[in-house]
Amino acid sequence: MTARKATLTVDGNPTTLELPVHAGTIGPDVIDVQSLVGKGYFTFDPGFMSTASCESKITYIDGDKGVLLHRGYPIEQLAEKSDYLEVCYLLLYGELPTATEKQHFVRTVMRHTMVHEQLQFFYRGFRRDAHPMAIMCGVVGALSAFYHDALNITDEAHREVAAFRLIAKMPTLAAMSYKYSIGMPFMYPDNSLDYASNFLHMMFGNPCETTKVNPVLAKAMDRIFLLHADHEQNASTSAVRLTGSTGANPFACIAAGIAALWGPAHGGANEAVLDMLEEIGDESRIPEFIARAKDKNDPFRLMGFGHRVYKNFDPRAKVMKQTCDEVLSELGLENDPLLRIAKALERIATEDEYFIQKKLYPNVDFYSGIILKAIGIPKQMYTVIFATGRTIGWIAHWHEMISASYKIGRPRQLYTGAPQRDFVGIDKRG
Ligand code: SDX
Repeated sequence: MTARKATLTVDGNPTTLELPVHAGTIGPDVIDVQSLVGKGYFTFDPGFMSTASCESKITYIDGDKGVLLHRGYPIEQLAEKSDYLEVCYLLLYGELPTATEKQHFVRTVMRHTMVHEQLQFFYRGFRRDAHPMAIMCGVVGALSAFYHDALNITDEAHREVAAFRLIAKMPTLAAMSYKYSIGMPFMYPDNSLDYASNFLHMMFGNPCETTKVNPVLAKAMDRIFLLHADHEQNASTSAVRLTGSTGANPFACIAAGIAALWGPAHGGANEAVLDMLEEIGDESRIPEFIARAKDKNDPFRLMGFGHRVYKNFDPRAKVMKQTCDEVLSELGLENDPLLRIAKALERIATEDEYFIQKKLYPNVDFYSGIILKAIGIPKQMYTVIFATGRTIGWIAHWHEMISASYKIGRPRQLYTGAPQRDFVGIDKRG
């Protein structure tokens, strides 16, 4: 098949530029603009609204249809039939594991759940009221100080053990940040438990009693990790790729992803959703907040609504809403006031012309916080949970990039500053 191309003509430039066009398996074609710099041009795309930063085989999103595929498998099917560690295997290796492969993968992950005993002393440097995301930025970056034995990113075995260490230790570090904030002793992992049960054990267990984990809550926790696992080239994953492109070690890259995720426009939205629902306080006040969200002069946005890619329902939000109903009925909280407000808000917003016209629908963050609150996890831990689930996505993208040929990421700019001028001595300034 002849190579397809786009032609570009620029006013005042007689030369017609020819740019290759590449097609993916599914999704929009891309116009390859790499040659433009050699012809004296940059592309201009703040926020990367129209930019494909890389080629990837991991996740595909169709924002108009509300489709999310991990290695080709729809998120709805994975949420119903798979579990978080199986999806970790899928994202990392590209195929669903056989029973033997899954057993080996789970056993290997569960054998890396402990952290170096010295690491606990990093927590003591923080105030007890430090935001757990601040702690996670610090301690995950610090992991690279403990693993000098496997930081050669060109070595496949080193990359794999770093992946196992990060998948396995994030729940441990996350639970430690919670325990530290409430002055309770850290809990060691219990590797006889499954991944999500072990996390709840480390969060809510104490050394004086045997932990009893509610299987319904453990299943919900596993589903939440699974729904957050990966999401194509979102801001934090792009931060991980850009950091990784410099050759930085995987722990530093994941710390960069955690920092990027923290913002309320991204992973920090789940905590902001709870703040918003609590501020609304009663269904009668919903119209007031809808009006504020539509008011151009009011910076308030309906947290948990809207998405750069989804212009339809976020498929994860639908599964999260169903999980929310399951958990709250299991706990006898069907009439939870925040859930009632959230459901009323969703109904009113998705019927409102402004939200319909701007294609603003609930996203993954809208219901997750209500489930986490019902499980007993405090608001400040919600983005830590998101980061824990997303760690596999960050690692899979990092691994995909480092395993192939890559260049350091170094965008250019449209410069609109001062033209060149000579220095003026202080005695001659106005
Ligand atoms: C995540 O990228 C990913 O995949 C992210 C994520 C992942 O899994 O990694 O899916 C996770 O980050 C989900 C998003 C969580 N964030 C929130 O819920 C915060 C609230 N939402 C927004 O701030 C916003 O919708 C974004 C940041 C999510 C998307 O912003 P965009 O794509 O840059 O769109 P925009 O800000 O240009 O908004 C387009 C229009 C604007 O109006 P106009 O200027 O065109 O008149 O829609 C309006 C916005 O004012 N708008 C909203 C709104 N979101 C957008 N108005 C009210 N409430 C909102 N929530």
